[in-house]
Amino acid sequence: MSDSFTAPGKIILFGEHAVVYGKPAIAIPVSGMRASAWSEPGEGKLTINALDLNEKIDLKNKTSQFSVLAQALLSRTKQNEPNLTINLTSKLPQGSGMGSSAATSTAVCKALSNYLGVDLEKNQISELVFDAEKIVHGTPSGIDNTVVAYESPVYFVKGKEPLTFDSGRTFYLVIGDTGIESSTKETVGNVRSLWEKEPNLMNGYFDEIGNVTEGGKQAIENGDKEAVGELMNKNHELLNKIGVGHQELEKLVDITLEAGALGAKLTGGGGGGNMVALAKNAEEQKEICEKITEAGYRAYQTTFGED
Ligand code: MEV
Repeated sequence: MSDSFTAPGKIILFGEHAVVYGKPAIAIPVSGMRASAWSEPGEGKLTINALDLNEKIDLKNKTSQFSVLAQALLSRTKQNEPNLTINLTSKLPQGSGMGSSAATSTAVCKALSNYLGVDLEKNQISELVFDAEKIVHGTPSGIDNTVVAYESPVYFVKGKEPLTFDSGRTFYLVIGDTGIESSTKETVGNVRSLWEKEPNLMNGYFDEIGNVTEGGKQAIENGDKEAVGELMNKNHELLNKIGVGHQELEKLVDITLEAGALGAKLTGGGGGGNMVALAKNAEEQKEICEKITEAGYRAYQTTFGED
């Protein structure tokens, strides 16, 4: 058995959906929740053994993110199909906006490239995983594969070099899970239909989200938690306006704001999945987390930046 190769989950702090239309977005890795992949001798071919799904995928399966990824890596490195099994597990809930597909693809990419003896740069991993993301998400912006492959907070604009950045302060976040699985492909498709019907209105919302993201970057860099929280609230309102809200997300946002969060918003595709709240400090982070679990939902704590 080989070493285990891992990749983190992610959340989007600002700018989801608008990022598909060329606006900036900010995402951070969730390093405590990861996908892991490790290889062992194969059974005559390359197989991805998705243990949580009880599914074995080989290169004949052209509709799997993993076969697309493996094929892309083999073509790029001009190598033949190895006789290898890659086992895969993930702590990330699927369809929850936490980047489960990007994390699992990235873990598999690292395990396979290690076996093949190729040393990939972060941007190369991100590019390969982007091909696999298209299978899952249709027309993704590329932010998920980027933040997961770089494992650093990123300021991202589609088609441009991502900017990794940090803050001089620790930001304490709580992620609340509605438990409702939601397909990003679907919510992105719904937003596109609205955009086709009402381009001016929707472009106006995307512009506003873009401004919120720019303000969010400034506020993070200044370590201004209050301003970050306010902008998260504003971003959430705008996400509701573009039709990706859900009543369970509203409940979680209300619970966290009542518990003292500085701001809260849905994160990722929306329509279910997760929300994220910003706490003032570690103590309040724990309290907000408890309020969510008391209400019967799952919650996770994560941080970024460093004091
Ligand atoms: C999904 O994590 C973020 C979306 O903006 C889609 C994308 O950027 O590909 C909803």
